[in-house]
Amino acid sequence: MKMKLLVLGGAGVTGKRVVEIALNKGMEVYATYRHTPPPKSLRDANWLKADVDEIDTIRKLLNELKPEAVIDMHAYNKVDDCEDVGREDCWRTNAMSPGLWARECSKKGIKYVWVSTDFVFDGENPPYAEGDVPRPLSQYAVSKLVGEQRALLEGAIVLRTAVVYDSDPRSKFLGWVIRRLAEGKEVPAFVDQWNNPTWAKALAQVSIEALRLEGPKLLHAVGKECMSRYEFAKAVARAMGYSENLVKPSCSCEIKQKARRPKRNCLLTEKLKEKLGVEIPSPREVIKEISKELKETYLSSNELS
Ligand SMILES: NC(=O)c1ccc[n+]([C@@H]2O[C@H](COP(=O)([O-])OP(=O)(O)OC[C@H]3O[C@@H](n4cnc5c(N)ncnc54)[C@H](OP(=O)(O)O)[C@@H]3O)[C@@H](O)[C@H]2O)c1
Repeated sequence: MKMKLLVLGGAGVTGKRVVEIALNKGMEVYATYRHTPPPKSLRDANWLKADVDEIDTIRKLLNELKPEAVIDMHAYNKVDDCEDVGREDCWRTNAMSPGLWARECSKKGIKYVWVSTDFVFDGENPPYAEGDVPRPLSQYAVSKLVGEQRALLEGAIVLRTAVVYDSDPRSKFLGWVIRRLAEGKEVPAFVDQWNNPTWAKALAQVSIEALRLEGPKLLHAVGKECMSRYEFAKAVARAMGYSENLVKPSCSCEIKQKARRPKRNCLLTEKLKEKLGVEIPSPREVIKEISKELKETYLSSNELS
């Protein structure tokens, strides 16, 4: 029988990939979007426009659609705005909503997968395993940490990810790097911010694979290699045939960001391999493979602003 899957945030960068993979697997896919409309290429999914944070909406969606599983990719991702102008939305969406979804799903025996962030750690003592004690440095990080704790209490499967990239115009860092390289301009990239860059398509695949697990479960679902933004930009240049010499080391101390970022947030991924038998490739492997798609997205005039 076809699995009936509900994807929240289905028009987001990773959500789109979940919908695409689930359709290719022959699942019956329901997906929500809010402001950003879903792409035409995914019209085989059943799309619903909804703000999905209120308990009444959550109950209505579950009662009417009766999904067997929910993959939740919706989030408030404006890290700096969480410090002030977006604090309320940040809290509602990242801290409160996952616990509500997890509880309502658990009452009905529905699997629920939600995504957190490497920012729950402060980057002072890497590498981090799932059981290490978090120390969030920003309001965004606190909101996601509360979200993961509440979701886990209600039996969810929680995947922590980092620096998600894709051939989607909303992958800002990647787009900026590629455009500058293509124009022969220097790319100043931080040597002091380390993470495990994660390919959206691989994260989406893992979120679907994770439906096999029994919750509660917390897994690091990040690319297998931890690197600085500087190394990431160099890997992009190398894989796409641009001059690596254009990538120049810079320090995050040179720019002012409202929210504090962890410096060396390297995550261990052994548990992902052990529980699901998968690894998320490094950008060194991925970028070459999707180089054509990336050039089409970032170097064509159709790119979203
Ligand atoms: N991107 C990263 O580097 C990164 C790093 C660590 C963790 N993560 C986590 O990974 C997951 C996927 O991230 P992503 O970058 O793929 O997300 P994304 O592209 O920012 O998409 C998030 C989606 O959620 C929707 N949304 C937000 N609030 C909503 C609400 N209240 N009701 C309904 N829809 C709502 C947004 O719709 P509208 O745009 O239409 O409002 C958007 O389509 C998230 O949990 C994120 O926190 C991402």
